[in-house]
Amino acid sequence: MTAKEGTREAGNAFDALLEAAVDGIIIIDEVGTVLRFNQAAERIFGYTETEISGGNIKQLMPEPDRGNHDAYLSRYMRTGKRSIIGGGREVTGLKKNGDTFPMFLSVGETTRQKARRYVGIIRDLSDVQASREKVRELEEQLLHADRLVILGELTAGIAHEINQPLTAIAAYADAGKRMINRNPADATSEIDSICERIAEQSRRAAAVVQRLRKLVRSGTVSKGQHDINQIIKNTLLLFEYEVKKSNIELSFYPLETAGELYVDEIHIQQIIVNLIKNSIDAISEAGSPDGRIEIRVMKRPSDVTISVSDNGPGVREEFRKQLFESFFTTKPKGVGLGLSICKTIAGAHGGSLTFAESTQGGSTFTLSLPLELIG
Ligand SMILES: Nc1ncnc2c1ncn2[C@@H]1O[C@H](COP(=O)(O)OP(=O)(O)OP(=O)(O)O)[C@@H](O)[C@H]1O
Ligand SMILES: [Mg+2]
Repeated sequence: MTAKEGTREAGNAFDALLEAAVDGIIIIDEVGTVLRFNQAAERIFGYTETEISGGNIKQLMPEPDRGNHDAYLSRYMRTGKRSIIGGGREVTGLKKNGDTFPMFLSVGETTRQKARRYVGIIRDLSDVQASREKVRELEEQLLHADRLVILGELTAGIAHEINQPLTAIAAYADAGKRMINRNPADATSEIDSICERIAEQSRRAAAVVQRLRKLVRSGTVSKGQHDINQIIKNTLLLFEYEVKKSNIELSFYPLETAGELYVDEIHIQQIIVNLIKNSIDAISEAGSPDGRIEIRVMKRPSDVTISVSDNGPGVREEFRKQLFESFFTTKPKGVGLGLSICKTIAGAHGGSLTFAESTQGGSTFTLSLPLELIG
């Protein structure tokens, strides 16, 4: 075989490789001129090799990459300082029809006969992104379903919480009416205080309804600045009756000053609701007459912790490893999703959820939320 034939054969093998590759492969020169554009790249971008050859690679990128690319190439020539060359990352591509899409781009460099060439290998991530979004959507639905289930379980208590102020309002109104009928002149000062009490009770009922509506609503994660003390206080409102009914003493130790965190309020409430519900279940199951639940918020140098601790039976040693796994439950009617959902939410906030034995002899679950999230 002559040298020329050898070169041709290597060239054919190279063409076959480009053709067979599943990933898009683009070869450009040092100023970005497209020299080769394989079939997979044609499929991904919607251009044919003939259309794109001789053109500049930047037409396959949306702004701001498009505008910066020439300068980027010449800076690399001048300084040898690498950004993507020699490695890879997720970037956005631009198709012929104007659509943009996520892709993973890795770039290598070759220098042969003094000509510098860059080889870009492209993997279209549209499907990956679509499935990531699908997973997010499903997680969101799961979170919502979990909230509805737990609210369903708390319905009796919540109805009671709303009914109490309504009954009080009716009683105050009746009393006011009686006073006016008896002696309108004497009643003025008392009517004033009765009206104040009516207003206060209706605000209380409205607060419960508002909490409830928020928790029932579905929707995607929306983080904002919230005071952790307030989030917990609002959550406890939904438990007043349940706790009273089960004869449990619930104590809340908030931070002394407001603890502003950047979180999704509803999701944090959901964690607290799940943890308290688990504690109530544990205490009731054990049938202990003097059930206690303590909720404590603490600030540490790098995080805020919220611990829910009870004096129930605790978690048996052999179960501790599986506690946070989906579908692990020891309850006849349990689904076993509560803690796994809580852990997912904590993770999505850059935090964690852990179990420890409680000093009261039961369980302590501690949610930690990093302080960098503040502000
Ligand atoms: N405070 C607690 N004290 C004792 N055991 C607990 C406590 N919290 C959770 N557990 C144990 O962890 C298991 C899993 O809890 P998880 O909340 O994930 O599911 P579940 O409460 O069983 O069901 P659900 O999906 O309805 O919440 C419980 O079944 C229970 O055995
Ligand atoms: Mg549970």
